[in-house]
Amino acid sequence: MAKFDFSNRDSFGTKIGVIAAAAGSAVGLGNIWRFPYVAGENGGAAFLIIYVLSIIAIGMPVMLSEFAIGRMAQRNAFGAFRKLAPRRPWYLIGVMGILGAFMILSFYSTVAGWTLEYLSDSITNSFAGKSAQELTQSFQTFQSSGWHPVIWQVIFMILTAGIVVSGVEKGIEKYAKVLMPILLVLIFAMVIRSVTLPGSSEGLAFLFAPDFSKLNASVILQALGQAFFSLSIGMGVLITYGSYINKKDNIGNSAAAISLTDTLIAIFAGIAIFPAVFAFNIDPKAGPELVFITLPNIFNQMPAGYFFSILFFLLLVIAALTSSISVLEVVVAFLTEQLNWHRRKATVIAATVITITGIICTMSQGPWDNIRLFGLNVFEILDWTSANLLLPLGGFFIVIFAGWFLNKNQIKEELTNNGTTRAMLLGAYVFIIRFVAPIVIALIFLFGLGVFG
Ligand code: TRP
Repeated sequence: MAKFDFSNRDSFGTKIGVIAAAAGSAVGLGNIWRFPYVAGENGGAAFLIIYVLSIIAIGMPVMLSEFAIGRMAQRNAFGAFRKLAPRRPWYLIGVMGILGAFMILSFYSTVAGWTLEYLSDSITNSFAGKSAQELTQSFQTFQSSGWHPVIWQVIFMILTAGIVVSGVEKGIEKYAKVLMPILLVLIFAMVIRSVTLPGSSEGLAFLFAPDFSKLNASVILQALGQAFFSLSIGMGVLITYGSYINKKDNIGNSAAAISLTDTLIAIFAGIAIFPAVFAFNIDPKAGPELVFITLPNIFNQMPAGYFFSILFFLLLVIAALTSSISVLEVVVAFLTEQLNWHRRKATVIAATVITITGIICTMSQGPWDNIRLFGLNVFEILDWTSANLLLPLGGFFIVIFAGWFLNKNQIKEELTNNGTTRAMLLGAYVFIIRFVAPIVIALIFLFGLGVFG
């Protein structure tokens, strides 16, 4: 079999392009859909504190390690470990990542399909005049129809595949750079509307006044899982993107900027959602539908809500796309570089398989909801296990690899671009990836799963 020509790899054009693409991967449904619903189920403010601590103490170091591994190796998530650790089992991290990509994109495309439906509903102005109960009802009717959300999901997967086929650098980084700031501004407008609703203070207290009695090992595990999910770490997305980063960029600064943007957008989404949740008497524990039954109420109460709702859901679709392409890219980079498949063939086959598993997820939120394991349907199992098991496990092995397998000089060279720039806090970073992150992840993991009950 012919070998892939590695001298001819893709790469990102500019430093700002890298940040835009990686931030585009990080900022997505994880921030606006998943963060509020998981925070809502896990008590709000106490969850938020653990979430932010996880980002700073564990998430950013894992992100930086992924960038360093990818850029050092100039390979996809599987090939990177094969190259840096030949004849060692570390490549299994890459295998896990590829498996994770299938799992994550399956349910991610379900939710992305919902955003397309809501975009189309906004355009036809179908939220107008509906009460909070009616809006909840129409979401449930939509979901339980089965075929209706499946159509949107297929459309979303076609869009994702369409972008990945043409290579990442030509379209997505350009759009992401312009559109992400607009999304931030729009969320900010919704924040203002939401916090000025009568009865909003209860929602703010829910998000910001911690009740530590709500903390337990499972809440902490889910906060860690959410941090991993939101930053796109733990499954090789950022190893893959790191391999496209220019050797002159300062990856430490990039990781900090991306993490900060991502966290801000999640917190803003929380401030937009929770006051409205309480003002409209919605249950904060409503689960994956939370955002979809809350947001239309805010638009109904906003001046020019029609216009804002279209713009918002459009940007949400785009945010979902810049994330889903990064997940698909992990698989496609693997297939093209390791198996020397043509990019088109790799994209079509991977996207088709994911669409099929994705349809099962979508149906499991509707007609197939009665097929359950441990009380969870297929969608919920994939959502829960990928964020809370697969990603932390991947992150654990990634920091062990960077901290203990690679030697300190290799890491230092990579972070300082061979000594040409300064890497601030290098000592702290190495200490974290060697000791703090692995120990903390392992403890949270074992307690959260009830191993130490
Ligand atoms: N971080 C993205 C979001 O918040 C989703 C995502 C993209 C992701 N790539 C990932 C999650 C890799 C986990 C791993 O929407």
